[in-house]
Amino acid sequence: METKFWELKKNPEAAVGEAAGLIAAGEVVAFPTETVYGLGADGLNPEAVAKIFAAKGRPADNPLILHIADPEQILPLTTGLNANARALMDTFWPGPLTIVVPRSAIVPDIVTAGLDTVAVRMPSHPVAAALIRASGCPIAAPSANVSGKPSPTNAKDVAEDMTGKVAGILDGGNCGIGVESTVVDTTSPVPTILRPGGITREMLEERLGAVEVDPALNGDPALRPKAPGMKYRHYAPRASMYLYEGTQAARRLTEAAIRAQKQGLHAGILCDDGVKSHLEENLRRGHSLEILSWGSGKPDLAEHLYELLRDFDRLDPDFIIGMGVDEKGLGLAVMNRMRKAAGYHILLAEEGKTVVRSGSGFPEFLLATGE
Ligand code: TXA
Ligand code: MG
Repeated sequence: METKFWELKKNPEAAVGEAAGLIAAGEVVAFPTETVYGLGADGLNPEAVAKIFAAKGRPADNPLILHIADPEQILPLTTGLNANARALMDTFWPGPLTIVVPRSAIVPDIVTAGLDTVAVRMPSHPVAAALIRASGCPIAAPSANVSGKPSPTNAKDVAEDMTGKVAGILDGGNCGIGVESTVVDTTSPVPTILRPGGITREMLEERLGAVEVDPALNGDPALRPKAPGMKYRHYAPRASMYLYEGTQAARRLTEAAIRAQKQGLHAGILCDDGVKSHLEENLRRGHSLEILSWGSGKPDLAEHLYELLRDFDRLDPDFIIGMGVDEKGLGLAVMNRMRKAAGYHILLAEEGKTVVRSGSGFPEFLLATGE
């Protein structure tokens, strides 16, 4: 299939109009949102939605989010909204929040994977909103990656995964938030975060009072996540990744990187600007490491994480060592993605020692302390 590529800088109205025409005609188009790029099709047309699953290679038991451009557009999609659902819509829409509500009969089974609930989100990105309005339907859209790869946060990464598989790609530049929307189940007695994202747990608690986090998100393989998509190996770079967490994470990562260099290992290092500049001052020239920094602070980490994981795929290191952050605010979302990327190979860096928090088969030198 030929894939059209529209640069929105040139003639945005015409491009969005053309893309909307393709969606209304039952085709699949990739488009930017404030979180990550989505792969959109008419959410009420089962044949069109089937093309999304085919393009991504997505398992059929993983339901999709319906994207809308006005809050009222949710009404025909659900049998009813409770007070929590309404409060969340009023406070956080448009924005990076998806709510799970009881589904109505017009929502096709393929969208919900047969569940009796449907996930709905109203994105704030102007291109997404314009595309939904011009298409005249709710747009079903998962992230625009091939299943199992990190979600794309720029049009080049979308093109890498989707050229030849979809009718078109709208290039709206980089996504500002960089991790997927927060998914909240409003049908449980206490609203429950099924996937952490741009709207933080603290923001939800401030609005709703008590909020739960699906316990399966911690990576306990015995628990089954309530969002079907959270069970899959996701967000994963090709190389094995090991993650340092805890108060001494930055220091222990720095020491491990210096040891890796002394052994001439082709290691990928994922860290912030502070650690990167410290390492560059202390490593010999022509060293064997690939050091990628996200900048500084959690918003930078969220914005760049997926792009950096994809960069590591291109650099092809033998393994990656990452630096974790605390779970406050956006930290819950980024640590959820980083832990998955690391396959839950997690080391806890404490004062004076490093212990295994989860996983096995760690290279011995990662557990040592000092250079
Ligand atoms: O930010 C986002 O949410 C992006 C952009 C494109 O909007 N979309 C996205 O979609 O991340 P996707 O399909 O990659 O992830 C949707 C998640 C999956 O984990 C899925 O299992 C869950 O939402 N989900 C969808 N419908 C659900 C439902 N009825 N009940 C529970 N979880 C559901
Ligand atoms: Mg996804």
